Amino acid sequence: MPLLDIKDLHVEFPTQGGVLHAVDGVSLTLEEGEVLGIVGESGSGKSVTMMALMGLVGFPGRVRADHMRFAGKDLLGISDKARRSLVGKEVAMIFQEPTTSLNPCFTIGFQLMETLQLHLNLDKRTAKKRATELLEQVGIPAASSRLGSYPHQLSGGMNQRVMIAMAIACNPRLLIADEPTTALDVTIQAQILDLLRDLQKERGMALVLITHNMGVVSEMAQRIAVMYAGQVMEHQRVDRLFASPQHPYTEALLAALPERAAPEGRLATISGVVPGVHDRPSGCLFAPRCSYVTTRACNVRPALREWQGAEVRCHYPLGEPGRIVAIEQDRPQQVTAAEALQ
Ligand SMILES: Nc1ncnc2c1ncn2[C@@H]1O[C@H](COP(=O)(O)OP(=O)(O)OP(=O)(O)O)[C@@H](O)[C@H]1O
Ligand SMILES: [Mg+2]
Repeated sequence: MPLLDIKDLHVEFPTQGGVLHAVDGVSLTLEEGEVLGIVGESGSGKSVTMMALMGLVGFPGRVRADHMRFAGKDLLGISDKARRSLVGKEVAMIFQEPTTSLNPCFTIGFQLMETLQLHLNLDKRTAKKRATELLEQVGIPAASSRLGSYPHQLSGGMNQRVMIAMAIACNPRLLIADEPTTALDVTIQAQILDLLRDLQKERGMALVLITHNMGVVSEMAQRIAVMYAGQVMEHQRVDRLFASPQHPYTEALLAALPERAAPEGRLATISGVVPGVHDRPSGCLFAPRCSYVTTRACNVRPALREWQGAEVRCHYPLGEPGRIVAIEQDRPQQVTAAEALQ
């Protein structure tokens, strides 16, 4: 039985222009101790997927799923109270911006001790001792004297370490790190990622690492889910995904990596943006930006299907023999400017 098992998750937000399908049929599983990377451009639904798991999608957002199980318990079927006690203790989440998650009015010691006392029923003295140990574990120097500091007295990197200390305080079985380093400079980013990797290994926690950065997941994750416009486009083992991506979107993301650019060449980019409420295609959501676009892709939404040990949502996965010929025969007609204006 997997630790986390999400099947056919949908999250919708009603907007003035219509319903936004922020998450559109996502299924994910995670084993105990496993690291899953979720990548994709801004707006692809990475955060909302995890917010739904944590029960943090507020009104008027709507969440539905076939099931959303953690350690065998369906999170959709239980009361808010049961869900909070389970989620707060066994599943923890680190957010992108530590300053929005830490309360500026209380010392970090107070905030850490509050978490420990609430979830683990520790008395004040034990909580203080444990808080100091946690700060030491996440690499904060002079930990005991730092307990009295307010978040604004610490650097961004230090605050992110405090956030990690709070997240691991109750020994979660699953840690979700949502862009844990984007607000930090590059050297500090590397330190925080090293810290997360060490903690994950030491504690055998399962980890979901959400990031824009393909390089980061390549080093930490065993599997990667590539999301686009609320859907999983490709789900693969990390080594295979980098060596032979099967979805054109994954290929384009990899081509955009700076280290894959030709020397002195320009960086590859993916033209266009993730579709919003108004411009959602009826066929493949990536079709308007895909270099291999076909008539079939414009008209028929591909399902996520098993393909060479991976899951791919494409009519013509990159490893399919004869695909180039098939794509050439199925190219949409070029519409001339004159025709478009008629
Ligand atoms: N509370 C909300 N109300 C309406 N729309 C929302 C809400 N939260 C998120 N969205 C929309 O849902 C879509 C997915 O958002 P999400 O934050 O999951 O993207 P993301 O992949 O995490 O992007 P980023 O990489 O920028 O963090 C976006 O179009 C976003 O604008
Ligand atoms: Mg996000």
